[in-house]
Amino acid sequence: MDNTLIFATNNLHKLEEIRLILPDFRILGLKDIGLYQEIAETGATLEENALIKASYLYDKTGLPSLSEDTGLEVFCLNLAPGVHTARYAGDSKNPALNMDKLLREMLGKEDRKARFRTVIAYVTNDGVQYFEGLVNGEIATLKSGNKGFGYDPIFIPDGHEKTFADLDANIKNKISHRANAVNKLIDFLKIEK
Ligand code: IMP
Repeated sequence: MDNTLIFATNNLHKLEEIRLILPDFRILGLKDIGLYQEIAETGATLEENALIKASYLYDKTGLPSLSEDTGLEVFCLNLAPGVHTARYAGDSKNPALNMDKLLREMLGKEDRKARFRTVIAYVTNDGVQYFEGLVNGEIATLKSGNKGFGYDPIFIPDGHEKTFADLDANIKNKISHRANAVNKLIDFLKIEK
């Protein structure tokens, strides 16, 4: 089997991470196949968005294609912001404004339980497979830390006292939603190989 996988991202950190995790595979990003624009995420769920991106790439290249979509799900907000996580405070996708909005919504809430959920869609000529990764935790009352990205300064994973933005990257990368989803994909690819 040709070990080439296309990953629907232009995010160099995500590409680097997945290349380290899957050393036996040739992982190409969007730019590597001449696609410079973002693929519009118009789905109503993380699963739909992941499938839209991976199928678009598969239709274009005919090669096994991967995509991931992630949302922050807060239980007392009926799992919001969920699929709207990136644009919670508007189309600028500004992490500081997104966190400010969430902290405002959470004012006075006792139940601060939340989880990150990543869905990977893997499309081949056999169809689509989904891999889900979760990390449970809670929303802090204040931002803390400068590591990571996105909502990391206000998410405290279960079993830890600090936010993802205060924890070392290697700890986050062991327990994170994304790591859990990628590990399931790895198990599947090992079986498939
Ligand atoms: P995407 O799936 O990369 O488009 O991410 C959707 C939203 O979730 C964006 O607002 C990201 O900043 C946020 N997000 C995704 N992964 C993480 C993470 O590991 N930590 C914090 N925020 C994240």
